[in-house]
Amino acid sequence: MVKEENLMEKIVSLCKRRGFVFPGSEIYGGLSGFFDYGHYGLALKENVKRLWWKQFVLDREDMFGMDAAILMRQEVWQASGHAEGFSDPLVECEKCKHRFRADQLDSSRLNLKDPKKVQPLPARLQPDKVILAGNDSSRSGGCPDCGGKLSEARQFNMMFKTHVGAEESDTAVSYLRPETAQGMFANFKNTVDSLHPKLPFGLAQIGKAFRNEIAPRDFLFRTREFEQMEIEYFVRPPKVASRTHVDGTQTNAEQEEWERHFEEFRSETVKFFESVGLPKEDVHELEVPDGERAHYSKRTIDFEFDFPFGRKELSGLAYRTDFDLSAHQKNSGVPFEYLDEELKTKFIPHVIEPSFGVDRLLLAVLSSAYTEDEMNGEKRTFLKLSPKIAPVKVAVFPLLKNKPELVKKAREVYDSLRSTLHATGYTIAWDDNGNIGKRYRRQDEIGSPFCITVDFDSLEKDDVTVRDRDTGKQERVQISELQGYLKKHGNF
Ligand code: GLY
Repeated sequence: MVKEENLMEKIVSLCKRRGFVFPGSEIYGGLSGFFDYGHYGLALKENVKRLWWKQFVLDREDMFGMDAAILMRQEVWQASGHAEGFSDPLVECEKCKHRFRADQLDSSRLNLKDPKKVQPLPARLQPDKVILAGNDSSRSGGCPDCGGKLSEARQFNMMFKTHVGAEESDTAVSYLRPETAQGMFANFKNTVDSLHPKLPFGLAQIGKAFRNEIAPRDFLFRTREFEQMEIEYFVRPPKVASRTHVDGTQTNAEQEEWERHFEEFRSETVKFFESVGLPKEDVHELEVPDGERAHYSKRTIDFEFDFPFGRKELSGLAYRTDFDLSAHQKNSGVPFEYLDEELKTKFIPHVIEPSFGVDRLLLAVLSSAYTEDEMNGEKRTFLKLSPKIAPVKVAVFPLLKNKPELVKKAREVYDSLRSTLHATGYTIAWDDNGNIGKRYRRQDEIGSPFCITVDFDSLEKDDVTVRDRDTGKQERVQISELQGYLKKHGNF
């Protein structure tokens, strides 16, 4: 990874210049914490999600997909604990009305009657630098922006509130979901009744989630609207699974059930990060200590990544116990017990949850792929993306766009590759704009692993040049062998 001060600026600039990611509502001055994906960003995101879905759902027999509604009844969030406890401490400047997360300000600035009210963030969550507009550390004892007096800290719930239907009554209140997980818990019984899965089994879902962050920051890292890829994996509870064998030995239930699956998802997570091309040395595991875990978790491992702005959480793996299913059973009155025919007993399953944020994963992918080097005496920028996730796998060019015989042959190559690549969900691009050097640079910047050029020799020999993105080297390949060549070298 290029470890540079302004790496983030370069990534943000490339993302905009090349149609990956645009600032949300930009024409009206932007909306902090929201981003719009353009053509290539969307393709990259879809490829990453497809790999995840393949590994965690399609390649397994114990996993089922879901796509729950974003809005659910407020009782869901009351039972899950989010209505009550999903909040950050907020302070407001009485003069300029700017708002800050109290736990991200120096405590000397705060106006605390009870200093214990605002718990500082655990050390591992402290930002390296607090990015707040106009932050001026010389003005201590007040608002960082204007020196005004800060209000007392109050808890600010991070869920976006809305009303369903025309009435704005309390009963019509709903929230944009802050995690996709609850859609899966709420449908546990529907899944069991319709699919009759045997434990252990999992539900998987990819979808949008929303958190009204007080201080969104670091491009795609902390946004207010984001996408999650989550699994709720249901296992037997420790007590039920504890057994005495015929030889008198006792199986330690906790080892046998949830811990085994926790370890399995731990290595599957490592495997997934490798498959999207994250360097192993930039991914770290952190056992989250007691007192710092989410309210529902008995054990959590955070997978952290060395982002350009520091080591930060990339994904989480939590043991949610039976917290959510029990809470929904209690709150809704609907029985969530699972009848285990093998054990001839009923119980509320326990849950292992691997949870991934898609947008911050894309940022990790982009920051490790961003590369600068020199080619043919010129500086160039390219994205060294794994061919598996590159938005464009192959670009096809006629050497000159004003020579009909070259264009015709290049079109034939393009059409035959397109049907194969598009059938597997991958993209192929046609480019005849500008000179060949410019086309190579453009494809380098979006991370296309291969560029195919049809030149005058191609007309005689029925071959093309295939240029490798990383080395710039070109090879002549027979058109009839192109598919096999790309499959072998691109691993797709
Ligand atoms: N479902 C876990 C999370 O959203 O953090």
